[in-house]
Amino acid sequence: MSPGVLYVVVAGAGAVRHVPSRLVPLALERGWDVYVLATDQAARNFPEAVAQIAVVLGRPVRTDFHTTVGYSLPDPDAVIVAPATYNTVTKWALGIADTYVLTRLAEQVGRNIPITVGPYINARFANHPTYQGSLATLKEWGVNVVIGPNEPHESGDDAADDFPWEGILDTLPPASM
Ligand SMILES: Cc1cc2nc3c(=O)[nH]c(=O)nc-3n(C[C@H](O)[C@H](O)[C@H](O)COP(=O)(O)O)c2cc1C
Repeated sequence: MSPGVLYVVVAGAGAVRHVPSRLVPLALERGWDVYVLATDQAARNFPEAVAQIAVVLGRPVRTDFHTTVGYSLPDPDAVIVAPATYNTVTKWALGIADTYVLTRLAEQVGRNIPITVGPYINARFANHPTYQGSLATLKEWGVNVVIGPNEPHESGDDAADDFPWEGILDTLPPASM
C-alpha cells in the first residue's frame, strides 16, 4: 500500500494562518502524501503562512500550472479545500476555471474521489443570496461540506482557533491506497 495523494487547497481567508501548524501536520500524521495548492490571494495576502506551509511540508506550495512551474503534480486521491473563501466556493460551484486553483478543483469534481470543503467566511459573505445555494450545489456533487462551530463568523473576528481541521480530515478515508 502506498500513501494516498492529498491536495490541500488554501484560499485567501484568515484561517490559512493555522494551516502550517494544524492541518498540514495532522494530514501528514494520518499518512497522506500532501500537496498544498494556494490561490493567488492566499499567496499575496498571507505570504508568511504560505511560506511556513512549504517549510512544514518540505515541498513548495503550488500556485500555478505545470507549464509555468515545470512539473506536474500527481493526480490526487482526495482533496481538502480549507480554508475556503466565499469567492472560491461561489466560483467553484458555478464551474468556473479561470485560475490555477479553480481549474484543478473543476477537474476533480467528476473523478469520484473524496472532496471536502471547510469555508471560513464572515456573516456578510454568508448572507449573500447565492451562498447557501453554492454549498447545496457542492453537496449535490458529492462534496463534503464541514461548517465549523463559529461559522459564519463576525467580520473582523479571528474565529480560526476552533476551525474543524480534525473534522475535515475525518471525512476522508484512510490515507493508504
Ligand atoms: C486580510 C484578508 C482577510 C480575508 N479574510 C477572508 C475570509 O476570512 N473569508 C473570505 O471569504 N474572504 C476573505 N478575504 C477576502 C478574500 O481574500 C477575497 O474575496 C479574495 O478574492 C479571495 O480569493 P480566493 O478565493 O481566490 O482566495 C480576506 C481578504 C483579506 C485581504
